[in-house]
Amino acid sequence: MEKRASSMANIFLISVVLFLLSCSSIQETVAQTPSSSSFDDNFSKTCPETHFTTSADGHTWYLSLDKSSGCGFETKDKYRFGWFSMKLKLVGGDSAGVVTAYYMCSDCTKLGAGPERDEIDFEFLGNRTGQPYTIQTNVYKNGTGGREMRHVLWFDPTEDFHSYSVLWNPHQLLFLVDKTPIRVYKNANYTNNFFPIEKPMSLFSSIWNADDWATRGGLEKTNWTLAPFVSSYKDFSVDACKWEDPYPACVSTTTEHWWDQYPSWYLSNDQKVDYAWVQRNLVVYDYCKDSEREISGELPSSSGHKNPRFTAMVCEKCEKKLSKVIVPDKWKEGAHNTTEAGGRKINENKLLSKKHRWTPYGTTKCIICKQQVHQDGKYCHTCAYSKGVCAMCGKQVLDTKFYKQSNV
Ligand SMILES: *[C@@H]1O[C@H](CO)[C@@H](O)[C@H](O)[C@H]1NC(C)=O
Ligand SMILES: *[C@@H]1O[C@H](CO)[C@@H](O)[C@H](O)[C@H]1NC(C)=O
Ligand SMILES: *[C@@H]1O[C@H](CO)[C@@H](O)[C@H](O)[C@H]1NC(C)=O
Ligand SMILES: *[C@@H]1O[C@H](CO)[C@@H](O)[C@H](O)[C@H]1NC(C)=O
Ligand SMILES: *[C@@H]1O[C@H](CO)[C@@H](O)[C@H](O)[C@H]1NC(C)=O
Ligand SMILES: *[C@@H]1O[C@H](CO)[C@@H](O)[C@H](O)[C@H]1NC(C)=O
Repeated sequence: MEKRASSMANIFLISVVLFLLSCSSIQETVAQTPSSSSFDDNFSKTCPETHFTTSADGHTWYLSLDKSSGCGFETKDKYRFGWFSMKLKLVGGDSAGVVTAYYMCSDCTKLGAGPERDEIDFEFLGNRTGQPYTIQTNVYKNGTGGREMRHVLWFDPTEDFHSYSVLWNPHQLLFLVDKTPIRVYKNANYTNNFFPIEKPMSLFSSIWNADDWATRGGLEKTNWTLAPFVSSYKDFSVDACKWEDPYPACVSTTTEHWWDQYPSWYLSNDQKVDYAWVQRNLVVYDYCKDSEREISGELPSSSGHKNPRFTAMVCEKCEKKLSKVIVPDKWKEGAHNTTEAGGRKINENKLLSKKHRWTPYGTTKCIICKQQVHQDGKYCHTCAYSKGVCAMCGKQVLDTKFYKQSNV
């Protein structure tokens, strides 16, 4: 797959960087990490010393996972809105079952994730040698997630460092890979709003074992004879409003910063071209388009998309149901101790376990075409789609742009 239009995006980004440099001197309240800062200035570890190492110059960090433990780190500070970026090089070779998470969270600690947390996730799902990594993104608001998208990448993320960034302002959340936006999550500003906007978040990364779900839905197990699995990090950079209790001055002046000015509220024309290319070529899973999931509660494999053009209609009731099919939680899985899953038992998520598999509702007939309805609702998906109503509750979905997230 050849990546087109990236040079235009580069020009855009170069100008953003120049702009950023030109105004950095006036951003007193805004945090910027000098590249020379050491790990301990800005981060704390959440793992045994044995699983965290740095290069001789201190600029590159390595997290390792073996049978006894995974490893993680987090920023000491919290931020609300800004630009967050880091370069990662993922575990190479046979990394099936291994997940490297890189995320922001308002209420995650060693002990677990708060029930009312906001979260912005990048997760890299390992694979067998020679098979592609999948990158999963997700957004949580007030403890509710289930908004996964999965992409394949246009390069091998285990061969070299690539940057993974988040742009977060009150208008949009952008997930970027090497400056290419792969996902746009808009603040649609509806009453049924799942945009994280209030809670300041810290930035985290961790490596952990998730062989009960990560690779081919849990069929591919971690090969522990290959341990330790190591992921590498460098060039952390943040340009954001650093949180200070009760309320930092920058909260009221975020529009003074490039990451919250008009050009950062929407994709630029060049970004739109790149984003469209990503949508066409790299998306392997999108929760909004997942009709299977309402039946099985499971994320299908990329080949499981029988009708990729199908768009599930989502309304409040559907959203509520979606919130019950969240994939297992990295924290409960125990980034700090992989043999003793801190809280969540394997297969505890009943929608992922065979014993409690979500059963189709079977007998209901669509009130328009009389075909069998494969979910709890009134309309089959085809009728719901053509009428623009939610298949479950029949509510007219006035503006589906938010759910498709393609209104850019
Ligand atoms: C990193 O730590 C240094 C020293 O504590 C601090 O001055 C700086 O603001 C921190 N940077 C960020 C991005 O938080
Ligand atoms: C957040 O979730 C909790 C339940 O976990 C609920 O009680 C609370 O009302 C929610 N807050 C908002 C703002 O939705
Ligand atoms: C959301 O709507 C409110 C009220 O209509 C408006 O004041 C606010 O600016 C909107 N926010 C965004 C991010 O569009
Ligand atoms: C692993 O590789 C297979 C085969 O190429 C692919 O279908 C799958 O999406 C990849 N990723 C994961 C996480 O299983
Ligand atoms: C695990 O890795 C070892 C060492 O490369 C290899 O000999 C073995 O066949 C692998 N096991 C599986 C189940 O792939
Ligand atoms: C991890 O869990 C195992 C098994 O319960 C325990 O023996 C070990 O001490 C734990 N390791 C750490 C670092 O907590």
